[in-house]
Amino acid sequence: MPMTRRDFGILLRGAAALCAAGALSGPALGRPVRKTPYGAALALADLKADPRLGEAIAATCDAIVAVTEMKWSDLRPRPGEFAFDKADELAAFARVNNLAMRGHTLVWYAVMPDWTNQIANAAEAERVLTEHIETVMARYRGTVRSWDVVNEAIPDAVRGVGDRRPTIWSRHLGERYLPLAFKIAARTDPAAELVLNEYDVEFGDTRCRTKRAAFRNLVHQLLDAGAPLHAVGLQCHLRGGMPVDREGLAAFVAEMRGLGLKCLVTELDVIDQKLPGPAAALDQAVASQVDAVLSAATAGGPLDMLMTWGLSDRYSWIPYSYPRRDGLPNRPLPLDRDFRRKPFMDVIDQFTS
Ligand code: XIL
Repeated sequence: MPMTRRDFGILLRGAAALCAAGALSGPALGRPVRKTPYGAALALADLKADPRLGEAIAATCDAIVAVTEMKWSDLRPRPGEFAFDKADELAAFARVNNLAMRGHTLVWYAVMPDWTNQIANAAEAERVLTEHIETVMARYRGTVRSWDVVNEAIPDAVRGVGDRRPTIWSRHLGERYLPLAFKIAARTDPAAELVLNEYDVEFGDTRCRTKRAAFRNLVHQLLDAGAPLHAVGLQCHLRGGMPVDREGLAAFVAEMRGLGLKCLVTELDVIDQKLPGPAAALDQAVASQVDAVLSAATAGGPLDMLMTWGLSDRYSWIPYSYPRRDGLPNRPLPLDRDFRRKPFMDVIDQFTS
């Protein structure tokens, strides 16, 4: 039965009471004790519609991140206005269930509200960007301690290490918007972990190698510009069946660590569109690809955070963006549609404990 607003309120209040009584800690909830925190992306609508999801998150995860609720599309209906209701509810769920929360994302080229196209000049762009980062980070200070400051700054059709994706911000400010965003973020919440997040840097084909080289180049550029960058985020939306560049990825992570940066896996799932069934074979292929990427990323030591983009196959973006054509439901995540563990979950446990 769908959870009503009232049920959800009761769930939050009940948990808050337990929390205040000191009863609601990770192990008390039956959560595994992990060396590397594990978390999952969560959408408020799914949380409200299906009580099993909140229970599974509380029992399995140390952290959540909002699927869309902290993106510009959700937070910024009109210039100068902020719509925090949905993000606030997820932040409350995190607090009462003693979960950490990551913020995603302060700057992204995608899902921008139309009104941002009306930004007229550099001064206005800098004012709007500053207002956004300051207002959003200040609201969740203390709850969100790790932010994707810039998401996906490298273009898909990357030709060279200097390639950067065009955005509304680069149109007006040039590439200086990148260090600027980090500086505003650090000024607003000096205790927050500030992350540069990217995808398609995990594989060995020419495009992904070039993308990784451009990502590396951007990290150096940011550090040279004095940007307060603390961590790199590897999204790890794994393209099912595409070989992971184990050596290249391990060397990249080692170099980032050598620069003093943390390494997070931020959005792990497997795009299983083209992986052959049946389900059991699919689950093995998914787990072995996850094992490959996590082996490479942890070759020099444990990750600082590991998050999957969702927890159960029932609530994932993959069936919408990469549907299978053989009638078999997609199986991109650690738990199946009925919240049963799959081999993927064993791999998560192995690399976090
Ligand atoms: C996706 C969400 O899962 C979808 O619900 C939404 O419509 C589009 O964005 N990389 C990211 C995430 O950084 O924000 C994307 O999330 C998935 C790819």
